[in-house]
Amino acid sequence: MNREDFPILQQNIVYFDNAATTLKPKKVIDSMDEYYLRHTSNIHRGDYNFAIQTNKLYDHVRNIVSKFVNCDSSEVIYTSGATMSINMVVFGYMKNHLKKGNEILISKAEHASNILPWMKLCEEVGTILKYVPLNENYELTLDSIKKCVTSKTRVISLAHVTNVLGDVRDIQAIGEFARENNILFHVDGAQSVPHMPVDFKKSCIDFLSFSGHKMCGPTGVGILVGRYDLLTEMDPVFYGGGMNSSFESDLTYELKAVPVKFEAGTPPIAEVIGLGEAINYLMKIGMDKIHDYEVKLKKYLISKLKDIPNLILYNEDMNSGILAFNIDGVFAQDTSVYLNHYNICVRAGNHCAKLLKDAMNIRNTVRVSMYFYNNYEDIDRFVDALKNSKDIFNVVL
Ligand code: ALA
Repeated sequence: MNREDFPILQQNIVYFDNAATTLKPKKVIDSMDEYYLRHTSNIHRGDYNFAIQTNKLYDHVRNIVSKFVNCDSSEVIYTSGATMSINMVVFGYMKNHLKKGNEILISKAEHASNILPWMKLCEEVGTILKYVPLNENYELTLDSIKKCVTSKTRVISLAHVTNVLGDVRDIQAIGEFARENNILFHVDGAQSVPHMPVDFKKSCIDFLSFSGHKMCGPTGVGILVGRYDLLTEMDPVFYGGGMNSSFESDLTYELKAVPVKFEAGTPPIAEVIGLGEAINYLMKIGMDKIHDYEVKLKKYLISKLKDIPNLILYNEDMNSGILAFNIDGVFAQDTSVYLNHYNICVRAGNHCAKLLKDAMNIRNTVRVSMYFYNNYEDIDRFVDALKNSKDIFNVVL
């Protein structure tokens, strides 16, 4: 789908590393060029025409995001990416609202950004981190969450889609359960918001984090969506220009209203504009259509891989465009270096999900992660390369 919109695909590559970052359509690149070439200016500071034009474009992106994930535009905070969004939730909200002994539920399939901030919080506040067990297919279910909940559980924080195995969690059911039980629900949407419809309100989400660069947008920009009443009680993590309405030498100060009070300093203006363009681009294709297509691609990929002996597939049945595998007896990184020889881009290693090894008994995998601009021909090229993989040691060594 839409391959012609991606200049980088004119090179003869098969790009299967979309969970790490996605390619950018020309429209997104042009929108940022336009800002740099024709109306570079800071926001909310200048009274000249093109500064006013920049303000409008920048502010409007909150409306685009609100339509995309169904929240109010005042609930949209611009951040540098999902990692910053999660850190803001943990250190701006949870640190002031959780107490020693309160329990936080996560899973061992989360990536570093949804584990380390919580670990640090436990160190500082004395909260307890509990890992909801995965089932035999490495999936997380609502039943297994229910078994871990106690009267001390205050937070559930989970990836909607996990980054190594592509497990799609039922966030609607988990969100409803969390709300009924007065538990805060943070969703790491880094691997889902780019690939499928996500509904902040309907899924009873309290905080939603995601990144721009994993959804056809630029690097350096992301979003935190937070329930408005919670945001009014959340402290900024950063202080500076743009987010205050006054400050005096006697240490008194007043902050602006939500969401601007969370956006200190000059923000990533070009990137916010580029992200708005990227979201419009995705909405035009349709998030349902993107998800259905990726699932079809994965089914095709699995069917083709069945012919190849010595492959270990870890997540055949997961309903996303991600496949983790190994060639039996071959170090994952050797496989990715080998595939590079065929201009095929994949990621190998632990993929920043360093606790997953406890559940899987394996540290490293090769990961294929697809997006809507991949096609059946990409898969055929990949499968053909793997068929020749008896030559792997000639290429790698
Ligand atoms: N979390 C990103 C990945 O899975 C970087 O590759």
